[in-house]
Amino acid sequence: MGKGKLEKFAEMETFKNVFQYPFSILENVPFDMKGHWCDDYFKNNHPIVLELGCGKGEYTVGLARLFPDVNFIGVDIKGARMWTGAKQALTEGLDNVAFLRTNIEMIDRFFAPDEVREIWLTFSDPQMKNARKRLSSTFFMNRYRRFLVDGGVVHLKTDSNFLFTYTSLMVEKNQLPLLQKTADLYHTADVDEATRRILSIQTYYESMWMERGLNIKYIKFRLPHEGQLEDPDVEIPLDDYRSYHRSKRSGKATGK
Ligand SMILES: C[S@@+](CC[C@H](N)C(=O)[O-])C[C@H]1O[C@@H](n2cnc3c(N)ncnc32)[C@H](O)[C@@H]1O
Repeated sequence: MGKGKLEKFAEMETFKNVFQYPFSILENVPFDMKGHWCDDYFKNNHPIVLELGCGKGEYTVGLARLFPDVNFIGVDIKGARMWTGAKQALTEGLDNVAFLRTNIEMIDRFFAPDEVREIWLTFSDPQMKNARKRLSSTFFMNRYRRFLVDGGVVHLKTDSNFLFTYTSLMVEKNQLPLLQKTADLYHTADVDEATRRILSIQTYYESMWMERGLNIKYIKFRLPHEGQLEDPDVEIPLDDYRSYHRSKRSGKATGK
């Protein structure tokens, strides 16, 4: 681990907008703010929006600038990345921002039923071989239902054709209300000006993939509480720029 990282970790301990709960800590220390983020931290009753796998937190910070009356929480396990967004939010005095360092697999331990209004998934790892780690899988959707309002909105922005296709099929199969979908975000006329401002926020990974010439995809849908979710039972071609050591096809879309 480089010195830079150690310094960032030490500094992050002093950041009032960062909550660090890796599994080892959560096992011993209960998370008291579950159900009380607005009262205890944000000190308002504004809706909460999560960015899961936030990395450096570009969406968390960018959306917080655009929407001062909404509270944004970036979640990731990588502290050194999160430091960038947390530091930026403190420097700008953005009181509507927090960061939570934990494993997203335990995300329902941090939020109470109906505490969250929307979820952003920004350039998530497609997890082509393991649907249970894929942040837009039915496995995670069932987790999200535990704290997302009924019909809450999920946004997925991605470079990955695999993840975009899987998520689209998952939405279709479960008849989740589709709000927007484009396989080439920056070359479609079908986006209004307000949405375009939101979608023009670019993350570190987005810039990297765009430099490599990949199209950016976006899908936005509602997640109602009712109904049992099923995974699409379809083969999806793997992203060949990621699957260097793997065969060209995934097996089932579930990746099992
Ligand atoms: C490909 S990066 C994208 C980061 C950022 N959203 C961006 O676009 O630049 C995926 C991020 O998700 C985080 N991540 C993936 N699975 C996770 C999990 N189960 N728990 C916490 N973080 C996770 C990784 O640590 C990483 O920072």
